[in-house]
Amino acid sequence: MLPETVTVTPDLDWLTAFTWVWLLLALPIAACLCFINAPYGRHNPGTWGALIHARLGWLLMESPAVLIPAGFFVWMRGWESPVMLTFFLIWQSHYVYRAWIYPLHLAKASSPMPVLLMLMGLAFNLVNGSLHGAWLFVHPVISDSEWLGGWQFIAGAVMFAGGMALNIDSSRRLLRLKKANPDDYSIPRGGLFRWVSCPNYLGEIVEWLGWALLTWSPAGLAFAAWTMANLVPRARAHHRWYRERFPDYPARRKALVPGLF
Ligand SMILES: NC(=O)c1ccc[n+]([C@@H]2O[C@H](COP(=O)([O-])OP(=O)(O)OC[C@H]3O[C@@H](n4cnc5c(N)ncnc54)[C@H](OP(=O)(O)O)[C@@H]3O)[C@@H](O)[C@H]2O)c1
Repeated sequence: MLPETVTVTPDLDWLTAFTWVWLLLALPIAACLCFINAPYGRHNPGTWGALIHARLGWLLMESPAVLIPAGFFVWMRGWESPVMLTFFLIWQSHYVYRAWIYPLHLAKASSPMPVLLMLMGLAFNLVNGSLHGAWLFVHPVISDSEWLGGWQFIAGAVMFAGGMALNIDSSRRLLRLKKANPDDYSIPRGGLFRWVSCPNYLGEIVEWLGWALLTWSPAGLAFAAWTMANLVPRARAHHRWYRERFPDYPARRKALVPGLF
């Protein structure tokens, strides 16, 4: 049961309009990222100003995605609804890892990131975390616990878990490479790297498509669109970079989707 005396809630019309604008904004962002690589890691041209250590950058940038939905969840006593509790735990299974565990696993030699990029990521997570808090816990599209036995939830949960497993497995392989050879990049091998250059991005995209399906929420759909807007161009850029950098790069390996592109 939800508390009956909630008086301060985001207006639904405003929230819907804002979410659609936010979702559509992913299109021009994707177009820009086809021409300008997000300036971190190997694609940092060194002209984006002050740098911050990658571990601290990821921690600061991603923490709002843990804390803001948690604030909404507590405010709305989400634990009293099985659907809200399930969505909350699934969300946090990703974000506690991304914000607080992944940074600890980064190699000391990971490229520092521009402060400006960290601030952009932080702003994104403030909006994305707030939209999820609002759509999942204040204006929930789904509240009937029968949803948890339906095909959308089950298929979405399988995609989310599979995508997350692929993302974590591929990230670990990359981080091991970085630790073994801190001064340079190497050709990643094993796992889905046999077929694509960026299985970590593929896993992330599948994960958030699954999330959009399992929550059936406008915020989930917008986040899946933003994830693709960020990671499809970046996967293509990484792939091009590998092929230019390593003459012996596996010729049959695609950028993101096995056998396709
Ligand atoms: N949902 C979203 O919109 C979104 C957006 C961006 C990222 N992410 C997620 O955030 C995570 C990190 O993203 P990212 O763009 O930083 O991934 P990345 O470019 O693959 O780098 C991940 C880490 O592995 C190192 N690395 C990568 N390739 C390497 C190689 N060939 N040899 C040695 N070390 C290598 C990188 O070092 P350097 O830092 O020195 O390059 C970095 O420390 C990913 O899981 C991604 O899915 C999500």
